[in-house]
Amino acid sequence: MSSVDYATRIPNNVDLDQDRRLQRALESWQPRFVAWWKELGPVAFQDHDVYLRTAISVAQEGWANFGYVRMPEYRWGIFLADPTPDRRVGFGDHLGEPVWQEVPGEHRAELRRLVVVQGDTEPASVEQQRHLCLTAPSLYDLRNLFQVNVEEGRHLWAMVYLLHRYFGRDGREEADELLERHSGDQDNPRILGAFNEPTPDWLSFFFFTYFTDRDGKFQLASLKESAFDPLSRTCEFMLKEEAHHMFVGATGVGRVVQRTVELMQEHDTDDVAPFGGVNVATLQRYLNLHFSVSLDLFGAETSTNAANYFAAGLKGRFHEDQRPDDHRLQGATRAVPALVDGQVTTREVPALSALNETLRDDYVEDCRKGVERWNRLLAPVGAELRLPHVGFHRQVGVFAGQPITPEGQLVDPGTWARRAQEEWLPTEADRAHVASLMVPVREPGKMAGWIAPPSTGVHGKPLDFEYVRP
Ligand SMILES: [Fe+2]
Ligand SMILES: [Fe+2]
Repeated sequence: MSSVDYATRIPNNVDLDQDRRLQRALESWQPRFVAWWKELGPVAFQDHDVYLRTAISVAQEGWANFGYVRMPEYRWGIFLADPTPDRRVGFGDHLGEPVWQEVPGEHRAELRRLVVVQGDTEPASVEQQRHLCLTAPSLYDLRNLFQVNVEEGRHLWAMVYLLHRYFGRDGREEADELLERHSGDQDNPRILGAFNEPTPDWLSFFFFTYFTDRDGKFQLASLKESAFDPLSRTCEFMLKEEAHHMFVGATGVGRVVQRTVELMQEHDTDDVAPFGGVNVATLQRYLNLHFSVSLDLFGAETSTNAANYFAAGLKGRFHEDQRPDDHRLQGATRAVPALVDGQVTTREVPALSALNETLRDDYVEDCRKGVERWNRLLAPVGAELRLPHVGFHRQVGVFAGQPITPEGQLVDPGTWARRAQEEWLPTEADRAHVASLMVPVREPGKMAGWIAPPSTGVHGKPLDFEYVRP
């Protein structure tokens, strides 16, 4: 790879062709990445032409170029959003100081950890989704899955760029380990719980992209505030791609809801499973699962790490600049959930220590919007979906392992376990039914019977365009 034209092979705006050290690091990492992609990326269609967008620059027109490409030949690039002239630290102890172009020695370990944890989620989701290509409900959906997958691959590249460029030898070792941990691996799993859960079917995929990719949006948005400018600019560009992943989730669930409503009206029943649809009760249980697992990704309600990250300027809040406070939070307090005498209540804590909870609150608000849109589709049949209480089915923080109902009531553990299994989380019958619907549809323009078609195709192409072709 020594004589390659870097700008062509690895589209970038980081002057890769001028940076020998970075070239050498990437030269040894890149073949391992491709080997990983072939081994743990999509289980099929690796030799097909897929109609994908590729980022080739950060300009308005350049970040989304569409064309047919074989996935192993996808040009994973390295892009940072354009710099903001005279950008200043927007929060914490360094408020108002110029942002950093290199990693300060005293924050090196923490920054590396933040980059590694974010980076670890990116290939994890590709691994989780690798079997879905066998059962896509349409070519349109198959293409969207692959778009999400290649972009998660690019997000990995984005984090590896930071590790290689700014963290020296230990950064290179961390970059290697990002390809060595694997989702669900007994001995060497991914770092965060939700990224070790399987994504067994397309209903799970749509809820995953709605709820779990949205966690990504909020993590990236708070890292975008970072005083470490290369991290900030990297995350800003990643957020553009992330928006499409959440679109896939929001419209995917919406199309399933739409089809369910049609079947309910056509057959005048709530039970549309015999007619090849997904019941609202089943949708609610999938929603409960994916929402609760995603809430855990934000960590415990109070966290010294989160306080330190903020004070040091490493990780800010969502839309930090739009917050009407002093951006330092010294002396400020806020309420966080608490359990006292068997009651779900709140307690007042320093706002600095509660930043995980603040980000989780913002996330929940964002999640609500999509649920409201789905409920508008459900209104004609008098049904609705709801976000469960934040204490339901949690593994992290004050609610971890607590028998809290989706309505937020504490019940006895036996009752909780029984009702969770039978009513609140996907049942074996739900899983079996959804699995029975996972029949691939590969004729251009055709859709599986459990999901409505999307309102438009991709990038102005018609719905019956051959989005994936041999
Ligand atoms: Fe991502
Ligand atoms: Fe994503």
